[in-house]
Formats: sequence, structure tokens, C-alpha cells
Amino acid sequence: MESKLEVRHLTERVGAEISGVDLARLSDEDFATIRATFETRHGLLFRGLDLTDDGLVAFSRRFGALDHAPLMETGRTAVDGYPEIYIVSNVKDDQGRAIGSLGSGEAVWHTDMSYLENPPYASALYALEIPPNGGATSLCGMAAAYQALPEPIQARLKELRIKHDGTYNSGGYVRQGVSEADNPVDAVGTFHPSVLSHPATGEPMLYLGRRRNAYIEGLSLADSEALLDEIWSYAALPENTYVHEWQIGDLLMWDNRATMHRRDPFDASERRLLKRTQMQSITAPDGSN
Ligand code: OGA
Ligand code: MN
Repeated sequence: MESKLEVRHLTERVGAEISGVDLARLSDEDFATIRATFETRHGLLFRGLDLTDDGLVAFSRRFGALDHAPLMETGRTAVDGYPEIYIVSNVKDDQGRAIGSLGSGEAVWHTDMSYLENPPYASALYALEIPPNGGATSLCGMAAAYQALPEPIQARLKELRIKHDGTYNSGGYVRQGVSEADNPVDAVGTFHPSVLSHPATGEPMLYLGRRRNAYIEGLSLADSEALLDEIWSYAALPENTYVHEWQIGDLLMWDNRATMHRRDPFDASERRLLKRTQMQSITAPDGSN
């Protein structure tokens, strides 16, 4: 049967919406198109889905083995029997405990779990409940961010590694098992190259992780802060950013090396509930295993 798959670019530089396919019955040919689109667009949107936990995990697994979700801010895993699923939600259970992570405030620009040596190369976020206002999620393209940098900074960055903080999550909450720390020089985290090359396309991509507690190896704290501030001023330019206004049944996927993402705050008295999976990468960002 002829494929009905359609690809629509979401912005000039980042993101594509895929429509006309049933994710539960994808042909190998359609999946190959989806994967190739992901490699060049770095973000994918599917709309109008009705996925169970099994369906979300099964579709996510087509992109590779899944990482286990991080522990939630309450110290628990999110969904019994599904260690791969992370819940992003401000909803509370009947004992007043959050059923997910990240609350209702802003989630600042970041890439998922890059405090690890070998972070997940992609994440998929599926919307089950969405507030009437606020809570949009933005993706910015890091190949475009690299291109926006002045040439002298590009040249300098080739030699440098940046520490990706392991203290705070993007909502500003302290991660499970670590204590609050605000000195970038000795906060826990992992150094990664500041420029990656995309494994499929070879494009150079700026790799920042997140701003808080970031630190450029070998520099004084003051020099590191000054250079980071300058680099970050090119990181998420509006022309390199896609802003996603959610509808229930949307699945948004991003490449964690080729994009960063953030979330707008929303009214804490409204309910927002999404489920996330994260795809394992085969190599660490520096190319080692
Ligand atoms: C995430 C994340 C933002 C959002 O799931 O990794 O950053 O829109 N979510 O809730
Ligand atoms: Mn995230």
C-alpha cells in the first residue's frame, strides 16, 4: 500500500510534524523516513495520538533501547512496572504528593540528563492533560546556535569542555541523592565537549546542557562565567526556536544533542500531565563508550 506519510517543517531550522501514519502499525519504510527526518530536523511532532503506556514505550523503543527515568523529586519512580516512563506533572495525589516532576514553574533551557557520562540521545514527551494557558515547550536548534556564534568563539570552543551540572533539574529542584551546591567549580556534574558533531550528518552543534552551575574546564570562575554568558547569548535565538503549544494527544520528540528545550510556567491550580521516555545513546558525546 502506498504510504500516506507527510512531513511538514515546524520552523525553518528545527522541527517537523509527521502525519498520515499509525504509530502502532508503522511500516519499516515509514519508520526509516521518520528516523531520517529526525536526524535532519532534530525535533518531531505527532498529533492526535491515543497512546497507552505500552504504546508509548513500544514506539519509543523503535529508536533504540530506553534509559530508565530519573527518580522523581519525591524519590520515587513514576509509574509502577514502567521504569522507562518519567512523569512531568504538577498534579498531586490524594496525600498531597506530586505524581510527577518539574512543578508548574518555568523549566529553564536544558538538555535531558546530560549530568551523566552517557546521556539519552533523545526524549519523547506525550501529553495527557494540558492547562488552558501557559506551559508551552520550546526547542532550540544547536546546529543553528553553533552557526550563529562569531568565528573566533567557534574556534576557541573546539578545545574546551563544559561541565553539565548534576545538582539541579530544569525546574530548579535539587536532584535525588545530591545536596545543594552553587559553586560551579566544585558542583557535581560531567564535563562534555562544548561542540559535538552530529553522528548522522556530521554537523557541528553547540553543547551546553544548562546554564546554572556550568563551568568551562581550566578557566578561572570569572573567565568561565564571562565566556558562558557570551556563548549563551547565541544559544536560543528566536529564529532558531520552535514554540510548541500543546494539545492532548501530542507527542514531541527532541534530540538531546542537537536541541535544548524549556517550558513556560503555567497556573499552579491547573492540571498538566505528560509522560516521557528517553532513548539510550550508543556512544557518549565525546565519542567514547
Ligand atoms: C522534559 C521537560 C518540559 C515540559 O520532559 O524533559 O523538560 O514541557 N519537559 O514539561
Ligand atoms: Mn527536559
